[in-house]
Amino acid sequence: MLSWDDFETKPQQPENATKAQVAPESQTKSVQEPSASYTAETTAPSASSAPQNGSTAVDAARAAIATMDPAPGLEELEMGAARIQVDEKRIINCRADLNQLVPFKYDWAWQKYLDGCANHWMPQEINMNKDVSMWKDPNGLTDDERRIVEYSLGYFSTADSLVANNLVLAIYRHITNPECRQYLLRQSFEEAIHTHAYQYCVESLGMDEGEVFNMYREVPAVAKKAAWSLSHTQAIGDPNFKTGTVESDQELLRNLIAFYAVTEGIFFYCGFSQILSMGRRNKMTGVAEQFQYILRDESMHLNFGIDVINQIKLENPHLWTAEFQQEVTQMILEGMELEVSYARDTMPRGVLGMNAKMMEEYLQFIANRRLSQLGLKEQFPGAQNPFPWMSEIMDLRKEKNFFETRVIEYQTGGALQW
Ligand SMILES: [Fe+2]
Ligand SMILES: [Fe+2]
Repeated sequence: MLSWDDFETKPQQPENATKAQVAPESQTKSVQEPSASYTAETTAPSASSAPQNGSTAVDAARAAIATMDPAPGLEELEMGAARIQVDEKRIINCRADLNQLVPFKYDWAWQKYLDGCANHWMPQEINMNKDVSMWKDPNGLTDDERRIVEYSLGYFSTADSLVANNLVLAIYRHITNPECRQYLLRQSFEEAIHTHAYQYCVESLGMDEGEVFNMYREVPAVAKKAAWSLSHTQAIGDPNFKTGTVESDQELLRNLIAFYAVTEGIFFYCGFSQILSMGRRNKMTGVAEQFQYILRDESMHLNFGIDVINQIKLENPHLWTAEFQQEVTQMILEGMELEVSYARDTMPRGVLGMNAKMMEEYLQFIANRRLSQLGLKEQFPGAQNPFPWMSEIMDLRKEKNFFETRVIEYQTGGALQW
C-alpha cells in the first residue's frame, strides 16, 4: 500500500539531476508543448531553457492564463452559450446550453432532487448487531428464511450496480435537460449507497462474498432478471448511439422503461416485500431497515422515471405509436413473468405469511399500476394488493421509523471540521 512517505521519497533522482528533469509530467508538458492559445510573444521557454526553479513554471502558467482565449471552449456549447429561454428546454434532443440549470422548466425534477437530498442516509447508521446474532444462531432463522436473505442480497448487490452503470454510462448523455441531469446525479449517488448497503449487510453477516456477488451470473432466477435488464442497456451504452431519429428515440424510451418501470418498478418488489415482511416479524431488523430506506429511494426513482417517460411522450407524440405501446405492454408483462418465477424459486413453500401465489397477485397489481402510470391498458382487471403495508412503508418519513429501532436525523455538515 502506498503511504505519503512513499510519495515523498519516490522520485529518487541522482544528486546532479536538474529540476527540469524531475518536474512532474504535466509541468514538463506545459513548458515543452505550449498550447495553441499561446501567442508568439508569450511562448513558454523551450526545452533547452527549461525552468531552473518553481517561479519560471509559475510565470509560464500565468502567461498561459493571461492570453487564454475562452472562445474555443464556449463554441463547443450548442447555441454559443446564449442565455437560455425556458421554452427551449426539452428532455431529449435539446439544442440549448445544458449548463444553465435555471430557469427551471421541469419543477418536478428539481423537487425530486431536493427530496432525495432531504432523505439522505448511510448504511453505517443502522445497527446490525441483532442481525449478526440471529444469522449466526442455528435456530435464528428457518432454511426458507435464510434462502430469502441470500437471494435478496444476491440479486440486489449487483442489480443496483447495473442501474448505476445504466445511468452514468448509457442514459445521462441522452437526457438533455439540466434539472433532470441534476436528479440523475443524485440518483447515481443513491445507487452507490444502495450497493454499499448490500455490501455492508453481506460483510456484517459474514456471508460468502464471492457467492453472493456472483449470483447474478450463476443462479438462474437471479441471472435471468439481470440479463433482461442488461439486454436493454447495450444499444444506448454504445458510444456511437445518438438520439434524433424515431428509431433511436424509441430505443432510449425502451431503456428508460426497462430500467425505471421494470427493473426498479417490478424486479425489486418480491425481494423487498419478503425482507420487509421479515422485519415486521422482528427478524433481521437491521437488514430490513436498510431495505426500508432503499425502497423509499427506489419509489422516488420510479416516479422520476415515469415522469421523464411521460414528458418525452408529451413532447414527442409521434414516438408513442400503437405498435410501440404494444411492445411496451409486453415489456411490463415480461418483467412481471420474471419476477413471478423469482417468487416461485425463492418461496417453494409459504414463508413469513406469504407464498408464491400471493406474490403473483401482488405482481399483477404492480404490473397494472406500471401500465396505467404509462397511460397503457391494465392487463389484470381487479388484481388486489395482498400486502397493503408495503405502500405504508414506502410513504413513511424517515423519523417515523417503521421498525422503531431508533430515530435518525441526518446531520448535514455535522462532521465538518476546519
Ligand atoms: Fe437502488
Ligand atoms: Fe434506483
